[in-house]
Amino acid sequence: MVVEASKTQSKDNQVVKKILVTGSEGMLGSALLTSLKKYNIEVVGTDIRSSENPLDITMPDDVSGFIKHIRPDAIIHTAACTDVDECELNLNKTYLINREGTNNIAKACKDTGAFLVYISTDFIFDGSKTSSYNEDDMPVPINIYGRSKLQGEECVKKLLEQYLIIRTSWLFGENGKNFVDTIINKAESGELLEVVDDQKGSPTYSVDFADAVIELLLTAYSLSPFTKAAVDKPLTALHITNSENCTWYEFAKEIIRIKGIKDVKIEPIVSNKVKHIAKRPKMSILDNSAYVKIAGKALPSWQDALTRYLKI
Ligand SMILES: NC(=O)c1ccc[n+]([C@@H]2O[C@H](COP(=O)([O-])OP(=O)(O)OC[C@H]3O[C@@H](n4cnc5c(N)ncnc54)[C@H](OP(=O)(O)O)[C@@H]3O)[C@@H](O)[C@H]2O)c1
Repeated sequence: MVVEASKTQSKDNQVVKKILVTGSEGMLGSALLTSLKKYNIEVVGTDIRSSENPLDITMPDDVSGFIKHIRPDAIIHTAACTDVDECELNLNKTYLINREGTNNIAKACKDTGAFLVYISTDFIFDGSKTSSYNEDDMPVPINIYGRSKLQGEECVKKLLEQYLIIRTSWLFGENGKNFVDTIINKAESGELLEVVDDQKGSPTYSVDFADAVIELLLTAYSLSPFTKAAVDKPLTALHITNSENCTWYEFAKEIIRIKGIKDVKIEPIVSNKVKHIAKRPKMSILDNSAYVKIAGKALPSWQDALTRYLKI
């Protein structure tokens, strides 16, 4: 498992009373805040755009002061520069947020003893495999976003003993730039949709992922006997996505089918026909078997998750 058993035993039988979520105005951060309402836990959300608790994670003194003031038991760190093409154009800003910002958060965790959950990405892999990526596969990022997120992972590992690095892929949900909404808008406008059919991944609903992250954090924090039994070797990260996989084209077709949009012009294309600034991995499927072993269940399929998202 992510957390080596020996490293978390000091937390045995403790209870998480206060959680801080960074990136709380974003897609995942807002889903985490909603999901955390189910628990009897004090929750503080912070974001550069937050009116209540604004914090720029690139400012080390501000981060340190804020976290010392809040004193959370755990931090779920989602704040990041996530626009993959923009990252390619703004290297300094990207590394400042994704690497230095994460370093600032990890340092504050070290100073205060807070447990860190760092959210990472399938983009740390180059996508050259023909099967899914597991936690032991070598990260070889092919774009700036992936490199900066991997360097964020390295900061966490270097500074901390108690942490979870959780990687996911192809997130969709409310409060963010969203492939699902883009496809619906284009399909309804009658535009011809040309969608990439040679990149594979597992679309993942922010709500399902948020629930899984919180359950895992609460388990890792107290490291229940069940988890101890399920852990047969230490892992440095854990992969969690909705089940099943598809190409972007297959994802788009399913969005249109569930929404019932008629007479849509949609065609599969190869990725090198699209003029993206950043390279994208062809294989983004993350192997969830370690997570399934720990949690005792897989997340629902992406089709099930998509149906729930579209029926909100
Ligand atoms: N989206 C995906 O498909 C995907 C897949 C795998 C992993 N992830 C990871 O999951 C996490 C959450 O992704 P998401 O899609 O929810 O991202 P998101 O919607 O872009 O949310 C990130 C939030 O962080 C904020 N932020 C940016 N710079 C900041 C700074 N310097 N200080 C404080 N806050 C700052 C952003 O504000 P602005 O909007 O103003 O920049 C935004 O509100 C990220 O760590 C990402 O790398 C995402």
